[in-house]
Amino acid sequence: MPAIQRVGVVGCGLMGSGIAEVCARAGYTTVVREATGELLQSGLARINGSMDKAVARGKMPAEERDGARARIIGTTDMHAFDECDLIIEAVPEDLAMKRKIFAELDGIAPPHAILASNTSSLPVTDMAGATRRPTQVLGLHFMQPAPVMPLLEMVRTFLTSEQTFQAARQFGQNLGKTIIVSKDTPGFIVNLLLIPFLLHAVEALEHGVATREDIDTGVHLGLNHPMGPLTLLDFVGLDTALMIADATFEETKDVRFAAPPLLRRMVAAGYFGRKNGKGFYDYQGK
Ligand SMILES: NC(=O)c1ccc[n+]([C@@H]2O[C@H](COP(=O)([O-])OP(=O)(O)OC[C@H]3O[C@@H](n4cnc5c(N)ncnc54)[C@H](O)[C@@H]3O)[C@@H](O)[C@H]2O)c1
Repeated sequence: MPAIQRVGVVGCGLMGSGIAEVCARAGYTTVVREATGELLQSGLARINGSMDKAVARGKMPAEERDGARARIIGTTDMHAFDECDLIIEAVPEDLAMKRKIFAELDGIAPPHAILASNTSSLPVTDMAGATRRPTQVLGLHFMQPAPVMPLLEMVRTFLTSEQTFQAARQFGQNLGKTIIVSKDTPGFIVNLLLIPFLLHAVEALEHGVATREDIDTGVHLGLNHPMGPLTLLDFVGLDTALMIADATFEETKDVRFAAPPLLRRMVAAGYFGRKNGKGFYDYQGK
């Protein structure tokens, strides 16, 4: 298996843009694909904004930003992945959509290429099953925001080969991430624990236990988390959190993953969190 040099990222939303930034900053030529030219432009603008902010804060030299920028190739063409050694899928949390993309990537990527998913909760084995290279498929679950969060959760299915696993682990280390490894079970490690906690916070708000500010402050100052659960949900995206909860509930029938009606209503009303300016808090104009 040749060394990973050229990386592909499918989707340039919240996660795809962060993952592309991390890869380019680590020196990898990075091809990132969006569904339309308009979405691609806003994804690339997010990457540029994130790196500009890091430079302004003194966290990254301007030359590093310029080098990373030059290594990012934006495209709307799936065939642009035809020379990638590793392709990381970061499209919405929808298994049918992800399986379709894995089947498509399988036909385009070089035979040696590894195909990875950034899924938060969906079965990676099912995605592997949509390809003719199931031993070369695994989960690479980045945390949000990917350029800042030090963790990379690797998901190894029982089909993932040792060679694939080691190559991906080396890649994760080259990105400077701390790696944890999970079996391919719903929610893996992080979301198995996090999602019920977040849903519980929404339920507390729905039942009038306290104000949104007091729920958040209770967790922030009482448990020493960097932010409260409602603020965190706004960061994650309420739509994405709901998709994760629904997919996990669907598979496990575990009531801890049953989304409270308030979350469902907010998503139906278009409250997606920071990414569109309105969630549990208002970010419009910020
Ligand atoms: N939001 C989080 O905190 C978080 C954290 C870790 C993992 N994840 C996972 O990452 C994945 C993406 O989540 P997100 O928060 O970035 O969602 P998002 O909605 O911000 O981004 C998804 C992007 O994929 C694009 N897309 C859809 N179909 C595509 C296609 N065929 N080709 C290229 N692009 C396509 C969409 O246009 C959108 O921009 C999900 O599986 C999610 O569970 C999310």
